[in-house]
Amino acid sequence: MKQPYTSIILACIVLFSACKAELETTDLAQLSIIPLPLQIEAGEGVYQLKPVNNIYFDKRNTETERVVNYLINRLDSAYVNISLKKNNLTQSSAGIHLLIHEIPDSSLSDEGYLLVINTERIELKANTANGLFYGVQSLLQLMPETAFGNKMIAAEISIPSVSIKDVPRYPYRGMHLDPCRHFISVDFTKKYIDYLAYHKMNVLHWHLTEDQGWRIEIKKYPKLTTIGSKRSETVSGLQYYDESKNSYDGIPHEGFYSQEEIKEIVAYAADRFIQIIPEIEMPGHSRAALASYPNLGCTGGPYEVLTKWGVEDDVFCAGNDETFSFLKDVIDEVIELFPSEYIHIGGDECPKSVWEACDKCQKRIKDESLKDEFELQSYFIHRMEEYINSKGKTIIGWSEIMEGGIAPNAVLESWLGVKGGVEVAKQKHKVIMSPYSHLYLDGINVEPKYKDMEPLGQRYCWTTTEKIYSFEPTPDTIPEMYHPYFIGAEGTMWTEYIATDEHIEYMLLPRLSALSEICWTNNHLKDYVNFKHRLNSQLLRYTAMEANYRIPHPEGLQDAMMVSMGDSIQIINPTNITQIRYTCDGSEPNKDSEIYKTAIAADSSFTLKARCYVNTGRASSTFTATIIPNN
Ligand code: ACM
Ligand code: ZN
Repeated sequence: MKQPYTSIILACIVLFSACKAELETTDLAQLSIIPLPLQIEAGEGVYQLKPVNNIYFDKRNTETERVVNYLINRLDSAYVNISLKKNNLTQSSAGIHLLIHEIPDSSLSDEGYLLVINTERIELKANTANGLFYGVQSLLQLMPETAFGNKMIAAEISIPSVSIKDVPRYPYRGMHLDPCRHFISVDFTKKYIDYLAYHKMNVLHWHLTEDQGWRIEIKKYPKLTTIGSKRSETVSGLQYYDESKNSYDGIPHEGFYSQEEIKEIVAYAADRFIQIIPEIEMPGHSRAALASYPNLGCTGGPYEVLTKWGVEDDVFCAGNDETFSFLKDVIDEVIELFPSEYIHIGGDECPKSVWEACDKCQKRIKDESLKDEFELQSYFIHRMEEYINSKGKTIIGWSEIMEGGIAPNAVLESWLGVKGGVEVAKQKHKVIMSPYSHLYLDGINVEPKYKDMEPLGQRYCWTTTEKIYSFEPTPDTIPEMYHPYFIGAEGTMWTEYIATDEHIEYMLLPRLSALSEICWTNNHLKDYVNFKHRLNSQLLRYTAMEANYRIPHPEGLQDAMMVSMGDSIQIINPTNITQIRYTCDGSEPNKDSEIYKTAIAADSSFTLKARCYVNTGRASSTFTATIIPNN
């Protein structure tokens, strides 16, 4: 065994050179773990999985058994001829061992693990079942990518000898999902949870109520789903600010989750050590609730469930006590369904114009000696926070909950840049970093000037895998004493422009890999070149999963390229699992187009189109460059 490595330079040495001699029997790509562990040492030889393998654990420990069952199910679904046989723990046997420390190892914290693999044994130790679960995720990534496939027959499965000590950087590693703008099935929600689990994420922030649809069954208020979960149609394609340019599809859209389905999804996530944080939006983004119960709005309606996107003027009336009793009743049912420590109350994008014109809201401002409508928003959130705190839960709210003063115990989800997060951390509030500039995964995948080559996404934000990777969730502008208030980061998946499961996968993968690494991996180990190398194996896993992940497009080109006559154009392959195909006549490259092997001579003006193919025939978006020799 070599010394543990804690710097990225040394980690690179482990990955690329030093272990090469020692791991002759295994493929180096098998050490491509994402997110990168804290310490990884290569060993000699391999552990061989057989058709039947013994797995040892303390059978009295039901938490450990959950992890064992997860591993058994994963291998069962990946391979037809590999299985695990449960045994009670004995120290001496060869095989796979999972152990929770009786006396906690303080160096592993709550979610860390130790994974030691040699030719005889796979030994996984942690303080908690959570840690064991993350160890299992790393173990699966040490196997061939077929471990992420479906019902393969494996000739043999070799797992490289290795010793890993791993501890996450942040306790909050989140991804958000919006089934309101476009409804998302129970099955795909589970698949999404699986993707999060593979990346060691531990929070699904589930945005359940919106202007365009209320998606959670509330038994006391049945109209929320009989009326609020349905809209008559949806704006088509990209929405314009100029309404006269918009068209509507004429197709009714609906869907909601019954309380039974919610329990099923919460349990599914819990088995993957993911807590689901429900979001019930207030006071804004509430048109679907107002359409169901118009008495809760300032004007009394009538209101319709919204059929286009944006920020809506009609919001919950803050002067009407019925609003608060309604929301408290809703929260009562929500709390019964979600064991999470947090309830997200939204709080973003609440226009004040309707409150300005409402007698009840103005009376509230006067009675409570509030300065203005911004303080009325703060009053609203404070009042709901008090109730939610009384139930033993903490609220999370988007940046705008700072308006008029943040509620005393609230956690801020900082989406409007990082400044607000810095400000409230100094007031000793916890912060989740989610700036739209870097972590909105519903934003397009490329710089805006290349937007036409990509499927629809938000136009006001864009982020690439590299841009996500560059994001630092704990701003270095704030003194170190406040760093513990930055509890993690979260990516969003708003679905205004994302109407299918496949499109969600496209926006999620592989950007989730970069997000997971900024959430999990110690900052001093971060290195994009090293990450990109490991991403090759990750893309193979996504291929095995048959996920509609985004294949990176060719690099090294620009939209307009002025070159000297006779120069040659080089195209860079972004991965080692893709092949570039290109055309020079303006036509779309297809699977039969020329394979790029050497630089292309530029002796006249032409349009170069190139895209990357993987071996299943799937291809990246097409990059178009206009080549202009300048003499
Ligand atoms: C948000 O994107 N309105 C939180
Ligand atoms: Zn009002």
